[in-house]
Amino acid sequence: MTYLKILGQKKLKGSIDISGAKNASLPLIAAMILAKDEVLIKNIPNVVDINTLLKLIVKLGGTFNKKDNKLRISTKALNSTKANYDIVKTMRASILVLGPLLARFGHCEVSLPGGCAIGQRPVDLHLKALEQMGAKITINHGYIEAVCKDGLKGAKIVFDKVTVGGTENILMAASLAKGETVIINAAKEPEVIQLCEVLKDAGVEIQGIGTSKLIIQGTNKKLLNIKSFSIIPDRIEAGTYMCAAAITKCELTINKIIPLHLEAIISKLEEMNCKLIQNETSITIIPTNDIKPVNIITSEYPGFPTDMQAQFMALATQANGTSTIDERLFENRFMHVSELLRLGANIQLNGNIATINGTPNKLNATDVMATDLRASSALVLCALVAKGQTNIHRIYHLDRGYENLDKKLKNIGAEVSRSNKT
Ligand code: EPZ
Repeated sequence: MTYLKILGQKKLKGSIDISGAKNASLPLIAAMILAKDEVLIKNIPNVVDINTLLKLIVKLGGTFNKKDNKLRISTKALNSTKANYDIVKTMRASILVLGPLLARFGHCEVSLPGGCAIGQRPVDLHLKALEQMGAKITINHGYIEAVCKDGLKGAKIVFDKVTVGGTENILMAASLAKGETVIINAAKEPEVIQLCEVLKDAGVEIQGIGTSKLIIQGTNKKLLNIKSFSIIPDRIEAGTYMCAAAITKCELTINKIIPLHLEAIISKLEEMNCKLIQNETSITIIPTNDIKPVNIITSEYPGFPTDMQAQFMALATQANGTSTIDERLFENRFMHVSELLRLGANIQLNGNIATINGTPNKLNATDVMATDLRASSALVLCALVAKGQTNIHRIYHLDRGYENLDKKLKNIGAEVSRSNKT
């Protein structure tokens, strides 16, 4: 199987252009089920998760054409409402077709996604909210069977927990429902905001965008006139490369970003003693030779993102002192710890809190295994500073969410290549 070889301790220099956000693209592709006509989406990242969702759209009867980060997609001819296990099992975000399929057709069957490496990740909040909107939901042979003969009706939904995917699913369902839906305790992530804005541009009345209370007036099954739009930059990809600058102590400029989306990440890098020069769409990281330890608690946006936790753990291994990371969103998102230990890091785990005893320049290259997408990027970061050649196995995890990672790293001077040899 293909693995990534990284020769550590190379000097990096230059700039990196950030791709469109995977986690904004996925709900927006699902939202195309609500569209009347073909839609052109720009700045789509070329990553495996996007291709997986497009495969599902094709299985449902949709069509698409993707070239140079431009995606033309049409769901006019959808003729199936079943999302099969073979696709859903490979990508949990497939659950995002549930709300739009049900709202448009009044029935659908979507495979239950099951657990994943970072935790149990139930979808109970999505289902409860759809039931409140009038859907009858049964779980049969591992499939969610949802029916609402007379269409979904607006309702007041109070999410027990802030859920990104749950908010997105209900936003899409509410757009075609009859009457007003109020979502209380909605997620405020930039990716949720972009979904709201695209739906609003298509004529759906939405109040409270960017707040925890969203009020949506549904079109009563009238399909939407969705206009062409461009995907927002990937804040997690940007944060990962900002950590690459900090960990290698090399100045890098990160282009094509929205600095406002990166505030929690910027603030932690500053606490760790890095200087950041911000422009409207770029940030230059002036690293420090004396990385300070940091304490991080993951939370919903605008707090520190769980999707950046592993990368900051990698960075904390190079700090002068002891850092802590308290993971509050997912119960099993420390799978990277045992791999970082193999590289020579000193980390203790106690429940959902990791204590990282940093010592600069102590990592030694070895073979490591990627366990999930962000865990993989932590291994890449450590490999950039480890002595010798690190081989990162199971890199299909990386390809799910980082566009052209090898090329982007090579362009700034890293020695990175892929190999199939055993
Ligand atoms: C989204 O996942 C992202 N995925 C994740 O990105 C990200 O880690 C996560 O939000 C948190 O920011 C996409 O956007 C495609 P949630 P999602 O529903 O929507 C619990 C990456 O690396 N919960 O906000 O699935 C859940 O178990 C990833 O790109 C329920 O209990 O996350 C978790 O503890 C992986 N019941 C918390 O809520 C539900 O019905 C937040 O999950 C739904 C969620």
